[in-house]
Amino acid sequence: MKNILVTGGAGFIGSNFINYILDTRDDYFIVNLDKLTYAGNLENLKPSEGKKNYQFVKGDITNNEFVNYIFEKFNIKYVINFAAESHVDRSILGSEIFYRSNVIGTNVLLETSRRFEIEKFFQISTDEVYGSLGSTGLFTETTPLSPNSPYSSSKAAADMMVMAFYHTYGMPVVITRCSNNYGPYQFPEKLIPLMIINSLNGKKLPVYGDGMNVRDWIYVIDHNKAVELVFEKGRVGEVYNVGASNEMPNLQIIKLILKKLGKSEDLIEFVKDRPGHDRRYAIDSSKIQNELGWKPGFIFEEAIEYTVDWYLKNKSWWERIISGEYQKYYYDLYQNRK
Ligand code: NAD
Ligand code: TYD
Repeated sequence: MKNILVTGGAGFIGSNFINYILDTRDDYFIVNLDKLTYAGNLENLKPSEGKKNYQFVKGDITNNEFVNYIFEKFNIKYVINFAAESHVDRSILGSEIFYRSNVIGTNVLLETSRRFEIEKFFQISTDEVYGSLGSTGLFTETTPLSPNSPYSSSKAAADMMVMAFYHTYGMPVVITRCSNNYGPYQFPEKLIPLMIINSLNGKKLPVYGDGMNVRDWIYVIDHNKAVELVFEKGRVGEVYNVGASNEMPNLQIIKLILKKLGKSEDLIEFVKDRPGHDRRYAIDSSKIQNELGWKPGFIFEEAIEYTVDWYLKNKSWWERIISGEYQKYYYDLYQNRK
């Protein structure tokens, strides 16, 4: 049994990871440490709740003493760090919490991991650390880091720190840098869920700038299968890019969603561009494909269809987010029992 600390497991990708892992294997014991910020939602983890190899703990990765206590209590030997403030627009409105959680938080995890001599430290990073591409070219693992937003700069700082712990202390680290994810349980501030929900509510769809910014979309389960593979087989000290070679301008995705929902394109509203808006992200994932045999399993057209259907079928999930009720769920689940 591997005792793994998964941080940020109540967020979009982390919760999908935990649900997927606990559904498919029984050799991991997962401790999910999450602060339950606005983005953390324990309702995402209903499929895993009550499983014997799963434990949720509410806590902040920047809290040194508490993190130490968790390592000791659960005999943690592995860390997968998903926890982060993750929304670019919020980082533009206020950057401090991004540097606190994403940089200081990662430092606390690294220092604690060093004291406990853990067997692997896995940093979940993003392609946004590479900055912005022109109309051609792809990000490879050797592309220089050139982040443009407070969010991406905090993630780049964390990546550099992780590599410094590898070089200086010989810590067994791995990093993945993935492109934009989509799928169930994504918080409705990000492009795809926001556009689905606004369309359903007959609200305007705010398109930044000319709508021609390009993102490279990957279904969340494909990302998490890559995480599992890198966790098991990735070489320490290495970075692996993860992407499904599925570039698309924002406007194209928005029109696709409107079409699928039978809504009018009149809902589209061009708004002021995001400051410092990266033009294009596109990933070269040949390293993980050639070295570890990973490849994306989902076709965009099918997985986006499934995703839209998921939001249609799980209206109460996002309505409870919009009303704020989802934040009471933790208390119903844990506090009221005490
Ligand atoms: P998310 O915002 O949905 O979830 C983040 C989770 O981290 C939340 O549950 C939140 O409560 C928790 N958290 C935040 N600060 C914390 C702290 N100080 N202590 C403990 N928990 C804390 O994010 P996501 O989209 O699931 O992204 C997860 C990770 O993947 C992030 O590190 C992000 O940078 C990276 N990533 C995301 C994408 C994407 O498309 N969403 C792509 C590539 C990489
Ligand atoms: P987002 O989902 O915030 O991810 P990221 O900025 O991390 O790539 O945004 C994806 C793209 O969609 C990005 O180019 C910004 C754009 N966007 C809009 O045009 N309107 C919106 O309301 C949002 C949230 C994003």
